[in-house]
Amino acid sequence: MYERGRDLLKTRITELFGIEHPIIGGCMQWITGPEFTAAVSNAGALGIMSSAMFPTQEGFRDALRELKGLTDKPFAVNLNLFPALRPMDNELYLDAILGEGGVGIVETSGSRPPAELLSRLKEHGILLMHKCTSVHHAVVAEEMGYDAVTVFGSEGGGHIGNAGLTFLSMVPRCVDLLKIPVIAAGGIADGRGLAAALALGAQGVLIGTRLLLSEESPIHDDLKSRMLAACETDTVTVLGTVHNTLRVWKNPAAEKTAELEAAGAAFEEIIKVVAGSLTRNMFEMGDPDAGIVVCSQDIGIINEIRPVSEIIGGMVEEAEAIAGRLAAGDLSDVQEGG
Ligand SMILES: Cc1cc2nc3c(=O)[nH]c(=O)nc-3n(C[C@H](O)[C@H](O)[C@H](O)COP(=O)(O)O)c2cc1C
Repeated sequence: MYERGRDLLKTRITELFGIEHPIIGGCMQWITGPEFTAAVSNAGALGIMSSAMFPTQEGFRDALRELKGLTDKPFAVNLNLFPALRPMDNELYLDAILGEGGVGIVETSGSRPPAELLSRLKEHGILLMHKCTSVHHAVVAEEMGYDAVTVFGSEGGGHIGNAGLTFLSMVPRCVDLLKIPVIAAGGIADGRGLAAALALGAQGVLIGTRLLLSEESPIHDDLKSRMLAACETDTVTVLGTVHNTLRVWKNPAAEKTAELEAAGAAFEEIIKVVAGSLTRNMFEMGDPDAGIVVCSQDIGIINEIRPVSEIIGGMVEEAEAIAGRLAAGDLSDVQEGG
């Protein structure tokens, strides 16, 4: 029988990473700098700082120092292995991570990292997690020595892979196949999603869009308001033609991108609409039509801008309440939301 307060939400992930709640704030380009990452970690989840948003090693090193000054809780750093116009030299970030110290966890996302990069991190006792969009990639990640994998379904915001798989099908299969803990991601924005992921055998969840629309998120309020009004049909996938499928908010720039791709436009034309500099500008100035913004289908259940700590705490409380109701055989009234 379920008992409230029985540490239901202590899992292999909370234990492995030394965090209070089985929730990870996903790396978000231009969002998860030191302040936002610290807000997530200070709320008892695991914040992941983006390295790729710092174009120089020096800038990244300063950000790392700032982050360490803002939280004494565990946090992670993301190394970006996605194809990029300006490819990252992850060796520079790695040197900064090892030189500065204090980074206990590194997440990689995108393609398979070089084995030497992983072995250097492992030699320093750093825990490794990888974000995967297929079961096959998760199996390979375990073989490569990762300590945990995030299985990211195509409902989510971001690079969702080209196969369009959902976390509902991938998570249980990964749980059956792997020994390392599995984290579920893609379309999770409240305690119902957290409870569902735990029911599938995930040991935690990773969330992005829910936190993009938080009080501390450093994007313009006008953009937050416009996105809050969106629902689950207001996302679209772009960049499939260059094998880099990205789920984004369906705004004029995204629709223009889809049109260009359908017409077989050259990448030089497409990049004029999807350039990261336009997105960054949009985050700062609030013009909702200026560029593309990564966004999840869970946008439909995000109805309020709330502080990060309330979002995280609320998810945990809601998931615990659902577990209690399920244990009591009471399936009524699971209608709250974020
Ligand atoms: C605005 C935004 C920017 C993102 N940027 C990155 C990124 O730079 N690197 C990365 O690996 N994932 C990135 N993601 C994906 C998230 O880390 C996470 O995997 C995803 O948001 C989870 O799905 P959800 O949005 O349904 O919660 C981004 C997501 C959002 C919403």
